[in-house]
Amino acid sequence: MKGLKFDFTNMFFPNIEKGIKQEELIEYEGKIAEIIDEILNEKPGFVKLPQDTKFLDKILDLQDWIQSFESFVVLGIGGSALGNIALQTTLNPLNYNYMKNRKTPKIFIIDNVDPDFVASILDQIDPHTTLFNVISKSGTTAEAMSNYLIARGIIESYGLDPKEHIIFTTDPENGILRKISKEEGIKTLEIPPEVGGRFSVLTPVGLLSALAGGIDIIDLLNGAKSMLDKVSNKNLKENPAALNALLHFLYYKKGYNISVMMPYSNKLLLLADWYRQLWAESLGKKYNINGEIVNVGQTPVKALGATDQHSQVQLYNEGPDDKVVTFLKLEKFERDIKIPKVHEEYSALSYLGGKTLSELLNTELFGTEYALTEHGKPNMKVIFPEINSFNVGEFFFLYEFQTAIMAKLLEINAYDQPGVELGKKVTYALMGREGYEEFAKEVNEKVSKKEKFEL
Ligand code: PA5
Repeated sequence: MKGLKFDFTNMFFPNIEKGIKQEELIEYEGKIAEIIDEILNEKPGFVKLPQDTKFLDKILDLQDWIQSFESFVVLGIGGSALGNIALQTTLNPLNYNYMKNRKTPKIFIIDNVDPDFVASILDQIDPHTTLFNVISKSGTTAEAMSNYLIARGIIESYGLDPKEHIIFTTDPENGILRKISKEEGIKTLEIPPEVGGRFSVLTPVGLLSALAGGIDIIDLLNGAKSMLDKVSNKNLKENPAALNALLHFLYYKKGYNISVMMPYSNKLLLLADWYRQLWAESLGKKYNINGEIVNVGQTPVKALGATDQHSQVQLYNEGPDDKVVTFLKLEKFERDIKIPKVHEEYSALSYLGGKTLSELLNTELFGTEYALTEHGKPNMKVIFPEINSFNVGEFFFLYEFQTAIMAKLLEINAYDQPGVELGKKVTYALMGREGYEEFAKEVNEKVSKKEKFEL
């Protein structure tokens, strides 16, 4: 089975004038070996997943049941949805929900509380033949919980049995979903407590909806396992996660504050969305592990080739030296389209006739890569020989491990997100959650005292 390949050529000096020099890598070789050792010894939850797959049987046992529905609707947000979305768009056809010969349920992922969005999905399902998968590790997230209440309300209003139409994915002990599951006997899968939301795609969080959509989840985990072996290698130059983390770190230290991920494939695009959360929420931190204020983080940006060549690439080529670009290249597309030889009389068109769209797209990728390099902008490639579960499993694990290494280099905690708490607290307070009355007063008072500047 062909795995992911990597091309770091255009990250280094002299190919890139301000590029990283071999000496800089050598300086960090010992440190990187130490970091890998540390991570493998500490075994953060996500590292255990590819080897300790006891949760897999429980999911596979549900296969017939979950695939017997016409629609499978995920209700979750952030780490409880982004992996699910990436899995569906990457591993299923882009028009999956509209395919007539589909043998597995339509998959919908409701990861917002925008009423237009939620209603547009509810319009497309028949509650009699729908299974709702409510995913929330904490069981407190306002967005997931409000969508659960809506789904529950619909089920009850149709006189349906919630046990037949709802499955929870949540913490084994804590939270309101676990409580309801115990009281009512609603089927519930466990999210290992030591695996944080954005690192949970390879737990029941991501795997159940993937299986519902007919994705080979065993191969997904095989890919992750194979990547675990690769990233456990203490030799920096043989370890893609370590090399990529270190290169991003060294560039970050030189002021490259932005990490662009640019797939040249619509199917791979939402892997970049998943990455965006992982890199942002794990690495954007005010304090380091010693409690000192550091305000670090590299802003992840997603772009799509070739579409965004006509939107972003001007900036990437000629703008500030603050971006490291990662291309995701697909070598073999599932389908291809030959451009017909019409209008051969016009040289502006005839050069395209007889070529394929994949050839054009990958030539455009080469062109962008070449231009960025000529402009002195660092760029690299993650290469998918083809899209399959194994490669996607490798990708997820690679970036999770890379994020863990980057966090060690930045000396911060990758697994918390204190910066999102305040906004959540304000929402609870202003929506009238019990226990937040005083805080609501404080917020209202502060806001009312502000000097207004509104147009
Ligand atoms: O990465 C994270 O921890 C977050 O993005 C969470 O996944 C997100 O906030 C949803 O949390 P929960 O699963 O508890 O509803």
